[in-house]
Amino acid sequence: MSIVVTGATGHLGRLVVESLLERGLPAGEITATGRDTTKLADLAEHGVITTRADFDVPASLRAAFAGADTLLLVSGSEVGKRVPQHRNAIEAAKEAGVGHLVYTSVLRADRSTLSLAPEHKATEQILAESGLPHTLLRNGFYSEVYVDRLEQAREHGAVVGSAGQGRVSSASRRDYAEAAAVVLLDPAAHVGAVHELVGDQAWTYADLAVAIGEVLGREVAYRDLGDEGFRAVLTGAGMDEGTVEFVAGLEVATREGELWADPGLLAKLIGRPTTPIVETLRAQA
Ligand SMILES: NC(=O)c1ccc[n+]([C@@H]2O[C@H](COP(=O)([O-])OP(=O)(O)OC[C@H]3O[C@@H](n4cnc5c(N)ncnc54)[C@H](OP(=O)(O)O)[C@@H]3O)[C@@H](O)[C@H]2O)c1
Repeated sequence: MSIVVTGATGHLGRLVVESLLERGLPAGEITATGRDTTKLADLAEHGVITTRADFDVPASLRAAFAGADTLLLVSGSEVGKRVPQHRNAIEAAKEAGVGHLVYTSVLRADRSTLSLAPEHKATEQILAESGLPHTLLRNGFYSEVYVDRLEQAREHGAVVGSAGQGRVSSASRRDYAEAAAVVLLDPAAHVGAVHELVGDQAWTYADLAVAIGEVLGREVAYRDLGDEGFRAVLTGAGMDEGTVEFVAGLEVATREGELWADPGLLAKLIGRPTTPIVETLRAQA
């Protein structure tokens, strides 16, 4: 079985490659790709095939995907450029005769109000129109995203935001990566599926403050500043206007429940409970 992973030079893709190896797939059946292949040197030493593949260079994608049975398309990180980039990858996969494409999307991509959702929705649409057998992994947020809040609390003694009582069903990157490996290794069980994947325990920002306090060994409170108050803090910290809007928009989406979903499927796929956020924060701190 030949599996190609894009974004293997990044956090999630690397963890997927590691998980495939842990699950017994021979290294020679895995192709790890990205732009900066120097980051893949250790995997190459273990026998993993490594190839440069750039979403902006279709020929590099066709070459990297040639002969692949299955492709994991890890969504790119260049927000705003991803629809044409993902289209390039899907077209290259089709030309290469890939039998199963697995795409890392976002929770409820087809109806989410998250600012990040439209690019994922468009990609899902391109995939549907491509006719390629595929599986959607609609991942919830990574717990690692909240390490910034830990650093903020370390400095200021509080978590600030405007997410209110909104609940977040985050899980660790490793949890999502293991689920991806499970799906990649068993196409017959997952082709056509839309997996909404979240952590077992949803938490509010007040819970996050408690978890951060536990990691830092001191009391940490959550201070809800409201949307304007939070925007003012971000601006005061020197953020440009676009980033302020993006970050403040995530708080609104969190408050409105966009980062929450019914739990269960992720834990079922990986065969163990998902990682509590306090553990992820402790490991990252
Ligand atoms: N669910 C969440 O909470 C969450 C949070 C952040 C991001 N994400 C999404 O999940 C993806 C994976 O997360 P991550 O933490 O692994 O991100 P990451 O560490 O930033 O990795 C991003 C990967 O995308 C690759 N990439 C970017 N532009 C590319 C291009 N033009 N051609 C080929 N490869 C390209 C990078 O390759 P090079 O480094 O080699 O250029 C890298 O391997 C992100 O890209 C983003 O779409 C989700």
